Parts: sequence; structure tokens; C-alpha cells
Amino acid sequence: MNPLFNFDTMPTRPVVQGPLTGSDVLSVSQFDRDKIEYIFARTREMREMVEQAGTFDLLGDKVAACIFYEPSTRTSSSFISAMQRLGGTVIPITSGVSFSSVSKGETLGDTMRVLEQYADVIILRHPQVGSAKEAAHAASVPILNAGDGPGEHPTQALLDLFTIRDELGQIDGLKIAMVGDLRFGRTVHSLTKLLLQYDVSLRFVSPEILRLPLNLMNSVIDAGVDVRETHSVDDVIKNADVLYVTRVQKERFTDLDQYEEVKNYYKITAETMEMAKEKMVVMHPLPRVGEIPDAVDSDPRAAYFRQAKNGMFVRMALLAAVLGRA
Ligand code: NCD
Repeated sequence: MNPLFNFDTMPTRPVVQGPLTGSDVLSVSQFDRDKIEYIFARTREMREMVEQAGTFDLLGDKVAACIFYEPSTRTSSSFISAMQRLGGTVIPITSGVSFSSVSKGETLGDTMRVLEQYADVIILRHPQVGSAKEAAHAASVPILNAGDGPGEHPTQALLDLFTIRDELGQIDGLKIAMVGDLRFGRTVHSLTKLLLQYDVSLRFVSPEILRLPLNLMNSVIDAGVDVRETHSVDDVIKNADVLYVTRVQKERFTDLDQYEEVKNYYKITAETMEMAKEKMVVMHPLPRVGEIPDAVDSDPRAAYFRQAKNGMFVRMALLAAVLGRA
């Protein structure tokens, strides 16, 4: 026998059947409170593991394909880092699918069917709502939705919720204000849906043209949540426990004059922060484009960089979970 191919001496890596083993992650609607708690427990283990050891060989036999049809810094690099810290490897198609066969006219379904020949999991960002679902239909390996246009961004919502719990020690009972582009901001859509499972008050702060989509607002109302909409941060800042700020999503506007009208609508300054509770947290999925000046960064309540770091731990937990190693 060829000693290089002695299977008896190769490490065996059993699959652990957990609640997400083999699953796609397409929408936050897949996560009930038990699954959220399960992911958060795994996330804390991942954080401890990174703090103790940096990397850990849990997914040494696994390959992830990371294909992004829209720009990304945090989501792509935190997924890649997550995979690498777990000993796995990545096929990164993140610097413009113009270099891939997509530019030759390949369908999303075909691209997925090819990538699954090489990879055990596919991380996908795409500008069309529903694209992740379409990809999951085509591929038999798990698809992780890293943003489908203005639709959903479930892994971001999980890291946002993890951050709220980590910063404030609870979710139930909190007053959460979301500010900015509530119409196109997919992180707002996913986080709002996730929060409907908790006993929270929601305040939606936006200019008229960027209000939360009606169907989502109806779900919030149907869930019996204490909710109000306003144009003004001043209306919410004194009582908020969480101020979740977002950028106006320029790329989703068909009329750029409209974008110009609302792009500088909100600025959370040091003066705004003076009106807020001492234990409030300011979050932002990032990138920011002027909504929060750098001067706020030194405020201990500014949690957005800690939030970005949590993204890596949450994605480690999700990768391990769908690949049957958690
Ligand atoms: C967000 C996104 O891509 O939806 N960014 C991110 O993933 N952290 C928010 C945004 O682009 O404004």
C-alpha cells in the first residue's frame, strides 16, 4: 500500500448532528430562540478558543467557496478569517466576479452547481432579493446568505443580536432604535425580524422615503411589539438602550437626486451622545459614510468595532454548525 495513502493513520472527523447540520442559512426566520441560543453558546466557545489559541483545527478537511457579486470588506474577510481560524481553506471569489465565468453569462444555478464540486459550503452575496434561496435550490451543499440585495443579511443579524446581548447582558426588556435607511438596509430587515422573538420596544427613525417596508412594519405590528416611527433621533435618544445606525444605501437608489436629499439626514455626534443613557450602545453594521464621526469612537458606548469582531466569532460558529462540527 502507498504509505502516503494509509487511511488507517489519517485523522477521522466525525459529523456531530446538531440543529443546523447540513442546513442552509438563508433567512433569520429559520432561527427560533433555541437555535439562537445554540449559536450564541458556540460563538462564545469560538471567542474563547481564538483568545486562547488563535486557530483551531476543527474544519481542516473542509473548503468554503466565498463568492461575492457585491462589494464587501467585513462580511467577506470575517467569513474567510472564520474558516481559516478553524483550520479550513477558502476559494475566495470576492474581488469582482468580473474575473469569473459569471461575466461570460453563466447562470447563478450553474455557478453554484460547479462550486459545490470543489467546496463543502458556499458563502454567497448577490444583489438580487431571493438569490440565496435560488442558489440553495441549485446546490446540495449548505449556502450561507451573506446578503441578497435589499432582502436579508441573516449572519449580520445574528452578530448584531449577539453584540446587544454581549454589551448589555440581555435582549428582553430593551428599547432598540434603528436609524437611517430602513427601506433598503437589509441588516435592519433581518435584525428586526429576529427581534420579534423577544420582548423589546422598537423605534424606527428615518426620513419619509426611507421608512421600513410596509410588509415588515405589518409583521412588527402583528407581533404586538411596542413600536413607533419618527423622523427625529431626538425623539428616541433619551430612552434608547441600543441605537442601531445605518448608512443610506446609495447603490439601491434609481434616482440619485433622491439619494442626495437624504444622504446626510442623520449625524450621531458627541452632543447627541450626551443626551443618551450612560449604558446605551451605538451600533453600526459598517461601512459608515458620515453618520457617525470618528470623534464618537472613543466613547465607551461606541460598540461598532467590537460588533465587527463578533462577526468573525458568529461566522465561525455557523460554519462549524452547518458542517457538522459543533
Ligand atoms: C452591510 C451590508 O452589506 O448590508 N455591511 C455589512 O455587511 N457589514 C451594511 C451596508 O453595506 O451598509
